[in-house]
Amino acid sequence: RKGSKPPAHERLSRVARSVAESRSLRVFTMKFVRFLMKNAALANVPKHIDHFSKFSPSPLSMKQFLDFGECAMCTQTRCPLPRNQPPWGFLMILGEPVIDESPDILKGNPEVELLLSYMYVQSLLDLLEFLDKSPEDQSILSNFTDALVKIRNRHNEVVPTMAQGIIEYKETFGQDPLTSQNIQYFLDRFYMSRISIRMLINQHTLIFDGTTNPAHPNTIGSIEPHCQVAEVVRDAYESAKMLCDQYYLGSPELELAEINTKDKRQPIQMVYVPSHLYHMLFELFKNSMRATVETHEASRTLPPIKVMVALGGEDLSIKMSDRGGGVPLRKIERLFSYMYSTAPTPEISSQRPPLAGFGYGLPISRLYAQYFQGDLQLYSMEGYGTDAVIYLKALSTDSIEKLPVYNKSAWRHYKVSLEADDWCIPSKEPLNLAGNRAA
Ligand SMILES: Nc1ncnc2c1ncn2[C@@H]1O[C@H](COP(=O)(O)OP(=O)(O)OP(=O)(O)O)[C@@H](O)[C@H]1O
Ligand SMILES: [Mg+2]
Repeated sequence: RKGSKPPAHERLSRVARSVAESRSLRVFTMKFVRFLMKNAALANVPKHIDHFSKFSPSPLSMKQFLDFGECAMCTQTRCPLPRNQPPWGFLMILGEPVIDESPDILKGNPEVELLLSYMYVQSLLDLLEFLDKSPEDQSILSNFTDALVKIRNRHNEVVPTMAQGIIEYKETFGQDPLTSQNIQYFLDRFYMSRISIRMLINQHTLIFDGTTNPAHPNTIGSIEPHCQVAEVVRDAYESAKMLCDQYYLGSPELELAEINTKDKRQPIQMVYVPSHLYHMLFELFKNSMRATVETHEASRTLPPIKVMVALGGEDLSIKMSDRGGGVPLRKIERLFSYMYSTAPTPEISSQRPPLAGFGYGLPISRLYAQYFQGDLQLYSMEGYGTDAVIYLKALSTDSIEKLPVYNKSAWRHYKVSLEADDWCIPSKEPLNLAGNRAA
């Protein structure tokens, strides 16, 4: 399955060795060694990883998430967890991404790699405890829920840790197109797994802790069956506006319109995870506000940001239009790169949340949109402004998780080398036409 790749456990021990060689990481290594000694179960980890990575995760539709949640919430008798879903589903996706794919990419950064391996291995061990236990037993179910909360907290720092790793990698090795492409491929899949794992964990913990959110009594876990899109747009706008006012002492207005083809008089609703929608809109607002304010620094008024929400039979689309000067077409794809930002790199330890800086706003937002089969695209007119469109599925039966699988083709992806372009590369030098001149 893995071609010429050394087995996961061999590479893990290689990482441990390379970390041990670095003196600054000795304390961390000691902790890791103590952790190794305590866990005899660790010896079996590679076996478990190999076992679970043979399965593909089964994607769930929004409707399945809802049905399962409703069934579990409405009666006192708990639904038994489907066999191929939590907790078993976690094992397959948890073990794979870091341990099997990343080492070659993060080879310059053993600290980050070890930290992540450590986290994921520990979480895998926590879950293995429940492998042979019955999910119908109440006390086991509650221990399982506690374990999931612990895992979620343990992994809170994964994104900044990874971001730090990428920054250090860029500083040490520079950026060549092949590596950037690999990092992009790896991180898109890695973060998509993370989004889905957190979705499953949130659903499970929110549903099984038995409490309802008084502000949103209809919410099922983190899913809102009647998510009012315009409300989320306004919330995200207000939060971004607060940040923007702090940084620039001013912010553009919002103009919001809706077109509901299903029922013209009703506000647009959908079955969705409001926190995901909020995340995407908040990121887009921050970008549009920064561009607008910086382009209109000299003028006394700022052009508004216009948002249009449209519901059709298949798509629910949200378009955000700014007049922030736009981006040349050549650079559009680059904006989705984890290695690209035009803002200065913010201090990770800084108390104030940054308005921009890691270059993660767009790529992560696009993943949230794609997670339920939607997308996020940018259309820009340099010199004028940018339209960002979030496409979502209007029907909950079409909103099905998009999950990466770890197989031969994924591995082959890292092996392809950049071949010569099959189109001419335009030269900037003036053409030497001397030879063409008529004698
Ligand atoms: N609406 C826009 N108008 C002009 N430029 C934009 C717009 N949206 C994004 N950009 C450009 O794309 C880059 C990447 O955006 P992205 O949101 O991914 O990262 P960021 O804003 O730099 O940092 P952060 O991770 O904090 O969002 C920005 O630095 C900016 O140069
Ligand atoms: Mg941004």
